[in-house]
Amino acid sequence: MKKTIIVFLVVAVALSFVACGGKSDGAGGGLPSIGVTIYKFDDTFMSYTRNAIQSNATGKATLEVVDSQNSQPMQNDQVDAFLSKKVNSMAINSVDRTAAASIIEKAKAKNTPVVFFNREPLPEDMASWDKIYYVGAKAEQSGTMEGEIAAEWWLENKGKDQVLRYVMLRGEPGHQDAELRREFSIKAVTDAGIQVECLAEDYANWDRPKAVEKMDAWLAQFGDRIDMVFANNDDMALGAIESLKNAGYFQGGKFMPVLGVDATPPALLALEEGTLLGTVLNDANNQGKATFDIAYALAKGEDPSTAGWTITDGKYIWVPYQKVTKDNFRQFQQ
Ligand code: GAL
Repeated sequence: MKKTIIVFLVVAVALSFVACGGKSDGAGGGLPSIGVTIYKFDDTFMSYTRNAIQSNATGKATLEVVDSQNSQPMQNDQVDAFLSKKVNSMAINSVDRTAAASIIEKAKAKNTPVVFFNREPLPEDMASWDKIYYVGAKAEQSGTMEGEIAAEWWLENKGKDQVLRYVMLRGEPGHQDAELRREFSIKAVTDAGIQVECLAEDYANWDRPKAVEKMDAWLAQFGDRIDMVFANNDDMALGAIESLKNAGYFQGGKFMPVLGVDATPPALLALEEGTLLGTVLNDANNQGKATFDIAYALAKGEDPSTAGWTITDGKYIWVPYQKVTKDNFRQFQQ
């Protein structure tokens, strides 16, 4: 009888592991589980951040990483699914950062901590619960650095007396990085004493093919009147470069200064080739690591301040940007 009970118990325990698919239910000894949403997998910079989150989780936590395909309703369903599976914490790259309020409400109801990353929730939403964190980079810093690289080149090559006429490829409406990079890049140029004229600016949604289209149209409209191209990220800067190459730039001494942000590997190649004037490192590796480390500490019920990152105002982990130009790009190539 005793033996039968023991055999029964062993089988029951083994079956329960199979039924959980190796996932922790939060109560039973396995690895902690973390639900991760990415606003869309088809975004170059986010794919590096996603890889960093995943590689840091190896052997420590069970991750479920889902693609929200740029749809907030889809992401809301994914969050509901994570909560009904009782994940131990969530790492959320929102589609629409103003949707954080309803995600926080649901997470709070289930006492499931959340780390938002890359798309910064509004301050009032961040303040609404103590188990929410944000990992990102100070958008205005990237704008300032992009503008400083531009100003330095302009002063060296054209001087203060010439008005700098530019076009600006913007990220997406409402994204803190798009709005603040736009504002602070130009502020750094005017702070250097340079007069500017904006010929055109438009959203190309961080996207290379859309940037090619915009740049083609601006070249047709303004031609050589364009002195400089600012892009809120590297993919759009690379799109502009593609369009400029088709229009005869970067050959026979015809140059156009183009600036981006992210320092993705293809952008570093463009720096090497001499087509991209400068970019700013948006540190995907450290943002991914911090996102994982904080979500992991929360999933284990530990205090995130022990996770090895400086936490500002009790909630924010800021990963610094760095200027990248032809003088230092090699140190960022992996
Ligand atoms: C920015 C990045 C862009 C894009 C965006 C997505 O920080 O510079 O390339 O990935 O995040 O939210």
